[in-house]
Amino acid sequence: MPETAPFLRVLAGEPVWPPPLWMMRQAGRYLPEYRAIRAQAGSFLAFCYDPAMTVEATLQPIRRFGFDASIVFSDILVVPDALGQRVTFESGEGPRLTPITDGRGFDRLRETLDMAHLEPVFATIRRLKAELPAATPLIGFCGAPWTVASYMVAGRGTPDQAPARLLAYRDAGLFRRIVERLVASSIIYLRAQVEAGADALQIFDTWAGVLPTGEFERWCVEPVAAIVSGLRESHPATPIIVFARGAGPRLLELKDATGADAVGLDTATDPHWAARTLPEGTVTQGNLDPLALIAGGRALDAAVGRILAAFRHRPHIFNLGHGILPETPVAHVERLVELVRRG
Ligand code: CP3
Repeated sequence: MPETAPFLRVLAGEPVWPPPLWMMRQAGRYLPEYRAIRAQAGSFLAFCYDPAMTVEATLQPIRRFGFDASIVFSDILVVPDALGQRVTFESGEGPRLTPITDGRGFDRLRETLDMAHLEPVFATIRRLKAELPAATPLIGFCGAPWTVASYMVAGRGTPDQAPARLLAYRDAGLFRRIVERLVASSIIYLRAQVEAGADALQIFDTWAGVLPTGEFERWCVEPVAAIVSGLRESHPATPIIVFARGAGPRLLELKDATGADAVGLDTATDPHWAARTLPEGTVTQGNLDPLALIAGGRALDAAVGRILAAFRHRPHIFNLGHGILPETPVAHVERLVELVRRG
């Protein structure tokens, strides 16, 4: 991997202009070529464990748009799956898991990840290293313990993660055991992704924003900090991005306490506030509203312009503030690429 890849230079703290660009969930249903291969696969998890499919899905947005980074096609819920929890995806309804509501449910989990089960993910990374353009870094990822645990406890997506929040209040001991299992598993999983060839890592804490202070420290900051320090011990050169949606002003603490190389900014974060408030040299990533990308036109141009202006002299990676939505017109992504490339 040439050290000159703009994405890696920014992660090392260098302001690069125009900023490198990729999109969270850049592979997926908004692309007709993704829908075509997805239709051939059976279940979504079967798709995730088929390297021929996942390599192709990862490459599709790179071929079409030439993004500055690729992200291995997989899902955060392969971790509970490899811990022996039953995970399925109902079409159009999202994930379903056998909920863990008590100690007996927790005891049914494996003590450690079934690495053989995850081998297709590592095979995907190895193949991608051979097939990606030499200058396109590959991002490996996992979900943060809080977000993954919230699905493991509720057994599905919920609007506010109430089942996990309640369990964390009612039986903090049990909840801590779930989170600790995920911290240990995530370190092993991310290390294996780096060994297979991932150039950078991102930890997705999609549901961090529902946690009050105290709970945020306990269930978002501390577990993510433990994962980052585990990776630093074995792979100190691999940059790590933490995306904690809804962190708001707690981004400062998150950055300091976790020692992450970069923080993701969500849709609601004012880019000018971030540029003013985060210490100079803080590497940021984000934060175009995926709905502005659907709308296109003047709304898109203005939103992109605001983000570019705010980070003009700072190390910034252009991205969305959350994942791209399936109804996004491909032409609007093309427009986004044009605007960001122009700087
Ligand atoms: O970014 C990429 O292109 C890589 C692939 C990727 C997927 N999921 C593929 C996917 C990544 C990085 C994820 C992360 C993920 N998965 C998160 C964290 C980031 C975020 O967007 O909040 C979460 C919370 C999940 C769990 C998950 N996976 C849900 C809630 C759903 C159903 C809702 C939805 O978005 O469809 C999934 C399914 C999923 N993961 C799909 C894709 C492409 C759609 C399934 C399909 O194609 O049939």
